[in-house]
Amino acid sequence: MPSLSNRVLSIEESSSIKLAAKIINLRNEGKDIIGLNVGEPDFAPQESVLSATKKAIDNGKYRYSKVQGEAELVKSLLNYHKKLSNHDLEIDNFLVSNGSKQSLYQIFQTICEPEDEVIIFAPYWVTFPEAIKLSGAKPVTITPDKTSLLPTVDQIKNNLTSKTKAIVINSPNNPSGRIFSEDFLKELITLAKKEDIFIISDEAYIDLIYSADSPKHLFDLVEDSFDYIITARTFSKTHALTGFRIGYTIASKKLTKAMNNLQGHLTGNNCTFAQYGAVESLYTSNNILSEQKNLFKTRRDKAFEIISPVLPLEKPEGAFYLFPSIEHVLKPGESCLDFCAELLEKKQVAILPGIAFGMKNYIRIAFTDSTDRVIEGCQRIIDFIKER
Ligand SMILES: Cc1ncc(COP(=O)(O)O)c(C=O)c1O
Repeated sequence: MPSLSNRVLSIEESSSIKLAAKIINLRNEGKDIIGLNVGEPDFAPQESVLSATKKAIDNGKYRYSKVQGEAELVKSLLNYHKKLSNHDLEIDNFLVSNGSKQSLYQIFQTICEPEDEVIIFAPYWVTFPEAIKLSGAKPVTITPDKTSLLPTVDQIKNNLTSKTKAIVINSPNNPSGRIFSEDFLKELITLAKKEDIFIISDEAYIDLIYSADSPKHLFDLVEDSFDYIITARTFSKTHALTGFRIGYTIASKKLTKAMNNLQGHLTGNNCTFAQYGAVESLYTSNNILSEQKNLFKTRRDKAFEIISPVLPLEKPEGAFYLFPSIEHVLKPGESCLDFCAELLEKKQVAILPGIAFGMKNYIRIAFTDSTDRVIEGCQRIIDFIKER
């Protein structure tokens, strides 16, 4: 058989997809698996969002459409963000994509030359290194202080080279739920401007910060920084529209135009009717979002209460994950992968190993199942550790 490309063969298989297949098998055998591995809300989208989507189909919105996004959605995004930002945003700063995963892929393809370096912070979302590698660039991972799981500006300065093209940030972070302070972000943006590098801000969980309102746009923190910042957002997490596949970027017109050209050859337009559901969710979601945020906060507090006395971790400020260290409970020679596999086998609880996120002695627990099942699942994790 002819050979396959090294580019694609170098991609790591997604550990969550691998685990999902195993869970299906166990469930088919009749086992009741508590799935604390899932990175998506357990609730359905709002009825009004579903109706708007169905109505769009009835109105014939199922054809090829504009690559940038349906005019209604792009205009709504512009209005939405104008209310949040002091920057003079325009329509051509927006590009709707089939999920922020695609946005990130397009960003790296558009800004990176082969051999460029892109800085990421462990623990990182699993797609970052792979999407960077696919562009020909090299991910440079900074492993932060173990307790806070946050990097310092000095660590970043020490890793800058003449090839550094961008720094990826993800706040709140998947998997740690940690957020960056405004002071850190200002310093980082000032550094990026001085060194002429991009900051890519993955804001998938930006509306899921428990102790505060959603923070300011990065480009509002430092004057004249707009051209250095690429913001990736998604309807998947807070709006519970994971299957709709609608994300978008906010970036300079020049970069947006280049990414638009790429997207035109990659997917063409985004799912046309799903975009009408997204418009609806932008207009009607406020109450629902705060209800859901409260529900996740309750789950976070309960999960934290059960897990933290046994596994050390800082309370996550956002997103829907706990990321504790299991270093002191691992047996000699045991990896976090072994730990997760044995937990699944013995206690029927599915979680993800930290190694998937670049941290080998950690686990990720998602509190995305019902509150009762999150409590039961966390209790089983603790029982599992105590029985070892
Ligand atoms: C940090 C982060 N960014 C992006 C995404 C991708 O979201 P989307 O559904 O928009 O592709 C995820 C999904 O898990 C995520 O955790």
